[in-house]
Amino acid sequence: MRITVFGATGPTGRQLTGQALTAGHEVTAVTRRPEKLSPRAGLTMARADVTDPEAVEAAVAGSQAVLSALGGPLTRRPVEVYSTGTGHIMAAMHRQGVKRLVVVSSSVTDPRWRPSNAFFFNHVLDPYVNRVLGRTVHEDMRRMEAAIRAGELDWTIVRPCGLFDHPDVTGYVTEEDSADGLFTARSDLAAAMLAQLTDGSFVHKAMGVVTTQVRPSIARLIWTETTRKRLFRAPRMAECLSWAPSCTSPRCDGGSFLVRGLPVAFKATRRRGRGSSWSPRRPGSARRP
Ligand SMILES: NC(=O)c1ccc[n+]([C@@H]2O[C@H](COP(=O)([O-])OP(=O)(O)OC[C@H]3O[C@@H](n4cnc5c(N)ncnc54)[C@H](OP(=O)(O)O)[C@@H]3O)[C@@H](O)[C@H]2O)c1
Repeated sequence: MRITVFGATGPTGRQLTGQALTAGHEVTAVTRRPEKLSPRAGLTMARADVTDPEAVEAAVAGSQAVLSALGGPLTRRPVEVYSTGTGHIMAAMHRQGVKRLVVVSSSVTDPRWRPSNAFFFNHVLDPYVNRVLGRTVHEDMRRMEAAIRAGELDWTIVRPCGLFDHPDVTGYVTEEDSADGLFTARSDLAAAMLAQLTDGSFVHKAMGVVTTQVRPSIARLIWTETTRKRLFRAPRMAECLSWAPSCTSPRCDGGSFLVRGLPVAFKATRRRGRGSSWSPRRPGSARRP
């Protein structure tokens, strides 16, 4: 099959591209920086910023399916890349007659997602990291999901949990809406997305993916997904790494942001404690054979 992968230079996008090529697909890998990818048989590189509709359409032309691992790190600035970028991808797919769309979102967008046996995560990390530090990212993911659901494509929204790098595909678990777990290996996320090209069980649905057979180091995961991504991304992300709570620089994504977020996280935790109807066991889960 000929497929287009957005976010192809990200760690999930690299897994997607590699696994797709190994499976014999022809891949158009979309990135703003094609020089980050090495040439491979079956791989076509397309330079495109998803905010540019014409470049997006050129990358989608001739494909039979589109997979998106588009995104960026948590930030307190407004985020639009998910909704705007996916909007342009969907419009291009309509114009080019491409129907199948598989898009990465996050378990955080499912209001019922509360992993079992994860008190510290549910009451400290999730309210703080996902609802405060990641508020603008997840708001934009929700806008993206709403637009996808309202469209007429054959879509699947894929919701991983905390992503980590693992070299191999494991016996991952998928569930409708979100899966009961804390972590998803990027190799499993990519495999679950690619499986959707031939398996229609989650068409017009959201699908949670979790990894249960291996576990990352939480300290390393937090370091990789927050600090390392901030420091080694664009130079502007490192313009202010102040740890002073008084820092009001619009460029500040550092400690002051973390410190100011704590009281908000505390309130969010208390709100969620009241009237939660979440149940950890839901029907419809599927373990990969
Ligand atoms: N980290 C987690 O724990 C977690 C949990 C749940 C969901 N997610 C989501 O999972 C997805 C994959 O995450 P990841 O950490 O593997 O990848 P990532 O580091 O977020 O990479 C994102 C990719 O998006 C591309 N991109 C960003 N803005 C773009 C633009 N304007 N035009 C074109 N491409 C653009 C980047 O490509 P170029 O810069 O090369 O153009 C990059 O390859 C993301 O959507 C993320 O939000 C992450």
